[in-house]
Amino acid sequence: MIIKTNILNPIDITECELRKEIYITIEEGKISSISPTIELSKDFVDYSNLLCLPGMIDSHTHLSQWHIRGKYRNNLLDWLNEIVFPEEKKSFDPLYAEQTATDFFDKLIKSGTTTAGVYVSASQTATDIAFQKGNESGMRLVMGQVMMDMNSPEYLCQKTDDSLREAEELCLKWNKKTELLHYAFTPRFAITCSRDLMSEVGTLAEKNKVRIQTHLSENKAEIEQVLALFPECSSYTDIYNKYKILSPLSIFGHAIHLSDTELGLLRYSGSTIAHCPDSNFFLNSGQFPLGRIKKAGIDIGLASDIAAGTTPDMFYHQRMMLYRQSAGVLKLPELLYTATLGSAKALRLDSETGSIEIGKSADLIFIDSKALDSEDVDSAISELIFLTPIPKIEKVFIAGKQLL
Ligand code: GUN
Ligand code: FE
Repeated sequence: MIIKTNILNPIDITECELRKEIYITIEEGKISSISPTIELSKDFVDYSNLLCLPGMIDSHTHLSQWHIRGKYRNNLLDWLNEIVFPEEKKSFDPLYAEQTATDFFDKLIKSGTTTAGVYVSASQTATDIAFQKGNESGMRLVMGQVMMDMNSPEYLCQKTDDSLREAEELCLKWNKKTELLHYAFTPRFAITCSRDLMSEVGTLAEKNKVRIQTHLSENKAEIEQVLALFPECSSYTDIYNKYKILSPLSIFGHAIHLSDTELGLLRYSGSTIAHCPDSNFFLNSGQFPLGRIKKAGIDIGLASDIAAGTTPDMFYHQRMMLYRQSAGVLKLPELLYTATLGSAKALRLDSETGSIEIGKSADLIFIDSKALDSEDVDSAISELIFLTPIPKIEKVFIAGKQLL
């Protein structure tokens, strides 16, 4: 298939390209050429009235929190206990889990998200259903069952062995079942995960070469509690280091309050960070130290962190990323980069997706926006990011398959 369109595409953290009236050829789900011309005899689909971007990549979000977006508490721990945990309990009802998963993937695709790092819940059945529905949806997913074996409500807390066994079963069943599906071991955070659980996750992840996703240093009260639970460790990151959660396939949500030593541990291990600016506002968690984390050389993806982030719309989250930094710290191309190629790197999927490049999967979104009339990259990005509601996502392709 050949598509005539206009592309807005990240090159690197400082640069995006805007190319008008070009032809993208898609063969077997991959981009095989990007060219200003095609042979006269060839047919093409004409989307020259639309702006084409790489699909948005949400590097950290919670499927089972879909229905509690916007339910406010002014701090993380109260919000988890009073709102999140009772809602995640509902995912143990398979019908509710199925309806939630169906709605969740549908809304992500409609908002232009083609890849996501997803936490489901502590229910193995709900996670299995999420994989079934995710597979049917056609999305590219890094996803796992949330693991909790201490300091949790009894209705979510599992025995260590059960949590590990269930997660490994799901990993064996779903990891790389198709080229779009990746399992991620998902220990919730240090408060709810025992030393044995984390160490065994580290071993299993290494053995199966799969990703690990968890939360790190989001909130001051959380950190205090974590350090009291693990007195043998010198910092929050040191806990994940000692108990084998740091790795080149590990993605840490938030990572706000970190010392230079902790940044060094993350960098040295090859771990990455999912930055959740809307959520960090919503729960008064603090300001993401973007400058220090970039300087440390750690890969950063952008994330909605639904439900502490209120929408799946990754253009809104780019706006929040900008608003949460001091003026002048961020340039516009970096926002688009972080929501696409940056997130792809953070999820270690950048050889497959994240930009419009020959050889990569055709994960493309087409937007009806006056940004198309822009002559320069900055105006095109700013019109996509700052207008509310965001311009309509007209078409979505993942691995060359049209989903919208
Ligand atoms: N820390 C542990 N669990 C969660 C969660 O579900 N959301 C957020 N934002 N932080 C967490
Ligand atoms: Fe989260």
